[in-house]
Amino acid sequence: MYFVIIINGDTMKRVLITGASQGLGLALAKKYASMGYSLILISRNKEELEKLKKEVLKEYRIDIDIIPYDLTKEIVNFSKEILNSYSNIEVLINNAGMGIADSILYHDPIDEEKLIDLNIKALTILSMEFAKYFKEKGYGRIINISSVGSMMPGAYISSYYASKAYVSSFTYSINLELKQYNVYAIAFNLPRMDTDFDLHAKRKSKLKKGKNPMVIADKIYKKMNSKKGIMNIGLSTKLMNLFSHLLPKSLISKCIGSKLR
Ligand SMILES: NC(=O)c1ccc[n+]([C@@H]2O[C@H](COP(=O)([O-])OP(=O)(O)OC[C@H]3O[C@@H](n4cnc5c(N)ncnc54)[C@H](OP(=O)(O)O)[C@@H]3O)[C@@H](O)[C@H]2O)c1
Repeated sequence: MYFVIIINGDTMKRVLITGASQGLGLALAKKYASMGYSLILISRNKEELEKLKKEVLKEYRIDIDIIPYDLTKEIVNFSKEILNSYSNIEVLINNAGMGIADSILYHDPIDEEKLIDLNIKALTILSMEFAKYFKEKGYGRIINISSVGSMMPGAYISSYYASKAYVSSFTYSINLELKQYNVYAIAFNLPRMDTDFDLHAKRKSKLKKGKNPMVIADKIYKKMNSKKGIMNIGLSTKLMNLFSHLLPKSLISKCIGSKLR
């Protein structure tokens, strides 16, 4: 049975998810579809987005728009175009992200630029443009996917951890600015997940298996109406948050570095 309410030919609530072709983004797309949200799905891989759209439409009667796009390109124009095209987005999920797991001596500068453009620049511009749009509407949620890595420096994964420190700090701050307009921004600090993230980050070391992204997507959905600017998901993340306040940074970074080398 479906409970999707149609207004002026459009479904009532819509979520935009970046990085939806796989991993956590795909899990979030399925979760929000199951809760009656229409979807706008963005990532570079058109085929994977089409596959996901077909799969979701077999189960749920919702609208799904796929937008194959590289978010490291022309993000200011892109975000304006999106907002001019839709009047009923309620939730933005900045999920697309990438890592580089190696000594800074071996980072490719082109990849490094992409990491900054995706993890920091695209997330910031989308958050900013959606903040204005949501303020006008009097409601909105900005969900920025961060990491346990935001809480500490990480040797051999330096720029990724630093980018996530930015994501959590930025999101916490804008939440304080926006809550008076019934617009909330939440950074979700997530634990390791069982996705292809490590493969894409070219991580050589073998780490313990991570959490199922479907379980994490479920937790994000359940907590998306929290008014806090930062949510730590999972016991390991909560413990790491505690340790990051108790232990010296040099010790934590050394422990992480020894696992990644
Ligand atoms: N996996 C973990 O252990 C872990 C832990 C904590 C936090 N996180 C965070 O969780 C989020 C999702 O990670 P994941 O594990 O699902 O990673 P993933 O499996 O590598 O997926 C990354 C997603 O981002 C998209 N993407 C990458 N570059 C893009 C670009 N330039 N433009 C548009 N889309 C792009 C990819 O799609 P295309 O290739 O089709 O573009 C893919 O859908 C990230 O922000 C990550 O930092 C991950």
